[in-house]
Amino acid sequence: MKLLLAALRLLPPETAHEVTLCALRCGIAPILPPLTESILQTHVFGLDFFNPVGIAAGFDKNAAVPVPLLRWGFGFVEAGTVTPRAQPGNPKPRLFRIPSARAVINRLGFNNEGLESYVARLQKLGSNPIRNRGIVGANVGKNKDSVDAIADYVTGVKAVSPHVDYVVVNISSPNTPGLRGLQNKKELAALLMEVQKARRDLKLPKLPPLLVKIAPDLDDQALADIAETVMAAAVDGLILGNTTVARPAGLPENLAKETGGLSGKPLFEPSNEILKKMYRLLGGKMPIIGVGGISSAEDAYKKIRCGASLVQLYTALIYEGPALVMKINEGLAELLRRDGFNRIQDAVGVDA
Ligand SMILES: Cc1cc2nc3c(=O)[nH]c(=O)nc-3n(C[C@H](O)[C@H](O)[C@H](O)COP(=O)(O)O)c2cc1C
Repeated sequence: MKLLLAALRLLPPETAHEVTLCALRCGIAPILPPLTESILQTHVFGLDFFNPVGIAAGFDKNAAVPVPLLRWGFGFVEAGTVTPRAQPGNPKPRLFRIPSARAVINRLGFNNEGLESYVARLQKLGSNPIRNRGIVGANVGKNKDSVDAIADYVTGVKAVSPHVDYVVVNISSPNTPGLRGLQNKKELAALLMEVQKARRDLKLPKLPPLLVKIAPDLDDQALADIAETVMAAAVDGLILGNTTVARPAGLPENLAKETGGLSGKPLFEPSNEILKKMYRLLGGKMPIIGVGGISSAEDAYKKIRCGASLVQLYTALIYEGPALVMKINEGLAELLRRDGFNRIQDAVGVDA
């Protein structure tokens, strides 16, 4: 596995990602045995998770490999971000590894194949028995050239809702101009009102929970506004958060100057601070998925203690490979037991 990872790192980062996706699609990527630790099983937003560790949006943008990713031991997979129409994203190069900081900068710009093929793949997934082993969510966004952002989200939410376990409205990518503006109180309230109306109009026997994914670069006022707005809109949960536009000290200068969102280790501490604040603002009443810089069981445990009911990761997978998923789950079970917790829910927010 170590050799494989080293070989992948010799390739340009986007090529390495394409090779990985191809291996997953063709069934030549490793399959890891499922972990069935009852202490890791958890119930959030009305869904049952085999474990609380998910793969964050961006890895499987086109919903091409959710089942192979569940076979790596993830408790849940978030496919997307998908936009109504296919779009190529920003010009290359647009993805940069920063190995010395265990970080990545990306300015991909929602490159994806669009809703039609995404939904067709999810539809097929519906009958796959492996779904019994894990949760699949859909993360939706807007096209770069769209003139009506709300209409794009409504289109996405309507199309994916019948086929997934949860839906995420992503308003926090730094690489689509104007997208983060949707986090402002008035814009967010208008967006969520339309999305909720569209969901009700679907008249599904069971609506998948609705989550909102926000940025880690928000000040206290913005966090308070978002907390108030998502509660008023009866959203089911938050994902905190996306990549950061900040450039903490210690990054190599030539890479720090690249435009885009920074993810990985340097995001860990700052995103924990925001997570604690948001947990306090929500009074523990709305579950949060904690994302940002997780690369070990200790990190995942810390996110939970800061207020996350579930966690996700992406960047650490680039550096550590799929064995990390099992390692985090095993370590997390041990840490929970060490501190006398019988279930994850009891550890959520104890440090907040
Ligand atoms: C290459 C790359 C692409 C990403 N694409 C998306 C995306 O399409 N939608 C999204 O909501 N987040 C996207 N993200 C953000 C991740 O989902 C996650 O929020 C962020 O990377 C922080 O987690 P990490 O430090 O574990 O990577 C992307 C991240 C990376 C590194």
